[in-house]
Amino acid sequence: MVSYLLDMSSRKTALVTGASAGLGAQFARLFAADGCDLVLVARRRESLEALAAELRAEHAVAVQVIAADLARPEAAEALVAHLEGPVDYLVNNAGVGYLGGFAAADATRELAMLSLNMTTLVLLTRLLLPGMLARRSGRILNVGSLAGFMPGPQMASYYASKAFVNSFSEALSYELRGTGVTSTLLCPGATSTEFAAVAGVADSRLFKLGAMTATRVAAAGYRAMTRGRRRVIPGLYNKLSAFSMRLVPRGLATAIAASLHHTSGKALPAPPAVSPRISA
Ligand SMILES: NC(=O)c1ccc[n+]([C@@H]2O[C@H](COP(=O)([O-])OP(=O)(O)OC[C@H]3O[C@@H](n4cnc5c(N)ncnc54)[C@H](OP(=O)(O)O)[C@@H]3O)[C@@H](O)[C@H]2O)c1
Repeated sequence: MVSYLLDMSSRKTALVTGASAGLGAQFARLFAADGCDLVLVARRRESLEALAAELRAEHAVAVQVIAADLARPEAAEALVAHLEGPVDYLVNNAGVGYLGGFAAADATRELAMLSLNMTTLVLLTRLLLPGMLARRSGRILNVGSLAGFMPGPQMASYYASKAFVNSFSEALSYELRGTGVTSTLLCPGATSTEFAAVAGVADSRLFKLGAMTATRVAAAGYRAMTRGRRRVIPGLYNKLSAFSMRLVPRGLATAIAASLHHTSGKALPAPPAVSPRISA
């Protein structure tokens, strides 16, 4: 595991949302390798506990596990109430998307997705930022997406939610200049995690074109966060895609996104099971 230097002169704690799988689990491994204590958050307690056991054994770090559904409106405040100490690094990573035309979308599921992808991210940041500012030290990593650079037919509200995250994170980064606290935006393209299966896009052109590994994407985000960078787009292909989206007319960018979502027409996946509110 590659290790990037964090300031570990005193014991630090990182909170990672969506740590039970994919990018979140990789972020947790990177922090632990640097000797950082962790708070791992997601709905699947067993996966979090398994990761926590691995990190404690391999890196002798302290790990707090909090099983919570972060799509719930009260989730951010409940989560902060369960914390055992200050948070030095906040990774707003948990997020989901779903393929399907908007007119037939399950409205409850759409709202839960928007709440998870945007509202909880904003609230968690708002609750933890004052402590970081008072200590004049802290790093925030927001996981946006290349999807935030264009409209995405068949995933309209997911793309819009990532446009929100991209914009929010970069504006916050500007506001935080000179405070000792930084906000970094990570914009992954297609990445091999559970995301594609949950979203129903594993069979899409986008993922068939190739996906980066979660290890590489998380390392790029982690490195940029430790350096306090405003934004990182991992991978040359993704960088070129983001750049070209700025050059082509918006209508063409929208049509390209639509074509990338084309699948072989399999049925959409069932919504994820309802999970407990919060349990530390
Ligand atoms: N993979 C890609 O191609 C890709 C591309 C661009 C951006 N992203 C973004 O990257 C981030 C991480 O996704 P990933 O690719 O690592 O996907 P993933 O493997 O599906 O992981 C998603 C994580 O979010 C958690 N999560 C989902 N719903 C939750 C809820 N209601 N409450 C709490 N936690 C929840 C999941 O845990 P539980 O199921 O245990 O709750 C899991 O730990 C997301 O914000 C995603 O939008 C991914």
